Amino acid sequence: MGERLRVAVLGAGTVGTEVIRLLTTQADDLAARVGARLELVGVAVRNRHAERDPAVPVELLTEDARALVDKADVVVEVMGGIEPARELILRAIRHGAAVVTANKALLAEDGPTLYAAADAAGVDLYFEAAVAGGIPVVRAVRESLAGDQVRRVLGIVNGTTNYVLDKMATEGVELEQAVKEAQALGYAEADPTADVEGYDAAAKAAILASLAFHTRVPLDAVGRTGITGLTSTDVMWAERTGHVLKLLAVAERAHDEDTGVDGVLVGVHPALVPEHHPLAKVSGSYNAVFVETASAGELMFLGRGAGGAPTASAVMGDVVSVARHRVVGGRGPVESSYADLPVLPPDAARARFQLRLDVADRPGVLAQVAAAHAEHGVSIEAVRQSPGDAAVAHLVITTHTTSERALRATADAVAALPSVRRVVSVLRVEGA
Ligand code: NDP
Ligand code: HSE
Repeated sequence: MGERLRVAVLGAGTVGTEVIRLLTTQADDLAARVGARLELVGVAVRNRHAERDPAVPVELLTEDARALVDKADVVVEVMGGIEPARELILRAIRHGAAVVTANKALLAEDGPTLYAAADAAGVDLYFEAAVAGGIPVVRAVRESLAGDQVRRVLGIVNGTTNYVLDKMATEGVELEQAVKEAQALGYAEADPTADVEGYDAAAKAAILASLAFHTRVPLDAVGRTGITGLTSTDVMWAERTGHVLKLLAVAERAHDEDTGVDGVLVGVHPALVPEHHPLAKVSGSYNAVFVETASAGELMFLGRGAGGAPTASAVMGDVVSVARHRVVGGRGPVESSYADLPVLPPDAARARFQLRLDVADRPGVLAQVAAAHAEHGVSIEAVRQSPGDAAVAHLVITTHTTSERALRATADAVAALPSVRRVVSVLRVEGA
């Protein structure tokens, strides 16, 4: 086996270090699987004098990423961020290198530019690690389900927030403390705002939705609510009503009743998942993607969605694929956006909702709250009341399926009632 392929790794952080470890420790197996040896020709970092894991060969470190890209057959981008990652990936593609990236932020922001460049150059652009870390869900949706019709994708695609919500539910810790623990374990992004505010999950939702519905889904069309507004009381009430709180990415075919338009809806929000649903059992930093299709039915992909080693596994799977193409010829899948469906506004969603209210505990209040629902055409499925302090009652109202617009209007009307002290929370119930 005389052939060698030159591999450049951009970034030697949480993921890059594990990619380099696999490239070096599994070199013989990789060579046998690819049909050529993968030669690590350099590792680009910001600061080559920083302390590194011994797996990273110091003699290959460079701060000149451009020069490194220019001498590679395969470029692995695991530095993250928009620039210089975009410039370096485009440079690699134009130079004829295949690219493997874990960078969901960049793909969600500017995927079409990268796809177009890869098409023009006739090279591979692979990104399995960009969605749900070590779970091979990109390949499943892009290739295995290419002959089916995907109807809905429900995903726990951010390990940090799942870890945080799970800690809050099982150990009663506060959100801030759980976030610090997730950071220490290497799950969180450099700035955990991307995790807790749902930006990371929104980027993954945009990528998954684009693949599932053969439609470009721009990041700014993805509805987004993070977990920072959630309290231990929300977690407790979820449990009391037979649910588990999860930050979900939801992508589905939908119909906007107001405009009559059929399209796709993509959003990220905290949701109440019934405790019997498979997604409710996904604990810690695990990710899971639940896919509903016309022919295959319901599928669930479960695994580690964050952390160096699981993510490196996904990256290396891509490296083997693109390297094989170098050896035997051909290319992997290209962008499929032929369906070009309209992306509907987030408030066109239809779902069941749960409202929690603090109300005055006196005759007629429940009737007023129920009337506000009726006025907006929102049907109530269940009401639960428990006493609070000082003549305040806690109401938990679960609705039948309704539009988010009608629900928001109802919540505003309820909040304006003199007998209502406050609307404590409005959460969607998903996966029922
Ligand atoms: P880290 O912050 O741990 O590492 C980033 C690495 O890139 C560092 O080695 C850094 O150099 C290098 N780097 C950053 N900017 C530059 C630059 N301008 N020039 C040269 N080198 C640079 O990130 P992660 O490993 O956690 O994440 C990498 C990518 O993988 C991101 O896109 C992330 O979203 C994605 N990802 C991460 C997962 C995870 O669990 N961590 C899971 C799935 C995807 P230096 O060391 O000198 O600072
Ligand atoms: N910060 C991300 C998470 C890493 O917590 O899931 C994986 O993309």
